[in-house]
Amino acid sequence: MQNREEIYYCQPVFRPPSEAYSLLIQLTEGCSFKCDFCMSNLRKHFLVRDVKSVKKDLDIARKQYGSNVRRIFFLDGNAMVTPTEKLLDVIRYAYQLFPNLERCGVYAHSKDILKKSDEQLKMLFEAGLKIAYVGFESGSDLLLEMVHKQASKSDHIKASKKLMKAGITLSATLINGLGGGNNPEISKEHALESADLVNEICPEDDRIWYIAFLTLMIPSGTEIFKKKMKGQFQEMNSIEILQELKIFIENVKFQNKNATCIFRSNHASNYLPIKGILDREKKNILGTINYGITHTNILRPDFYRGL
Ligand SMILES: C[S@@+](CC[C@H](N)C(=O)[O-])C[C@H]1O[C@@H](n2cnc3c(N)ncnc32)[C@H](O)[C@@H]1O
Ligand code: SF4
Repeated sequence: MQNREEIYYCQPVFRPPSEAYSLLIQLTEGCSFKCDFCMSNLRKHFLVRDVKSVKKDLDIARKQYGSNVRRIFFLDGNAMVTPTEKLLDVIRYAYQLFPNLERCGVYAHSKDILKKSDEQLKMLFEAGLKIAYVGFESGSDLLLEMVHKQASKSDHIKASKKLMKAGITLSATLINGLGGGNNPEISKEHALESADLVNEICPEDDRIWYIAFLTLMIPSGTEIFKKKMKGQFQEMNSIEILQELKIFIENVKFQNKNATCIFRSNHASNYLPIKGILDREKKNILGTINYGITHTNILRPDFYRGL
């Protein structure tokens, strides 16, 4: 029986690293999709919690943390799937309770974004949904199909444009090494198509948006883990990973020279921490990658990598 003076969490919870200091509220559990590399739904049945319970958790948080909460992240893997009325209800309630709240955020699968109309997304933004974390994983349709992403490159482009039109900040992730080491052609396609995807979504103004590359991890129990065990999937090594990233960066070319795309590849899964603004700081980013390729002793060892 849950103690109602404690905020409810269905562990393990899934949140972006940048939301580490946000108030985490369990709006959904698990994920309604099942990508081959992801563990979001391995130990959880997907569900959207009822609004009354979520509001109770917000009440408890108000008592525990006072009125100073500035950021809330609504868990779990794809909380954007929540019906718009429900999502609006909890977001508006959160802003009533926390007058200093600056932003709410969610993970969003591109297909969940596409199911919402422009008006619904605008309403969500106006209510306070300021950032959505979208897993692109790749711009290659071949690879997206291979890992059962259930979204295509064109879905990612349309979803990103819809988010930006509504004013919601886009923070998208891609996965270095997703195609494995068996086939260099797939790695090249992954890098080129991902660069093309990012070029396509670049807005015409100077708003801030985020692109991050994680590096593939193989958590036990995932489909990709099973393939690896059967010898059907071979991981790329650190040099191949950096070479793939290099092709990606070389091919990011924005028409808008004022674009402010904050690029990061400094997650715990990455071999080399890299940060910069695309495409303005391409030269520096490429310099860092080349240094990593030629000085492998500075790369993060595999046993220190994690999700
Ligand atoms: C918890 S998921 C939520 C994303 C959201 N559900 C979507 O699909 O758009 C967050 C991101 O972590 C990354 N990720 C998940 N599993 C990973 C793995 N095994 N290796 C590397 N990155 C991974 C993917 O980029 C994924 O989109
Ligand atoms: S990557 Fe996103 S959509 Fe895919 S299973 Fe994980 S949480 Fe769900």
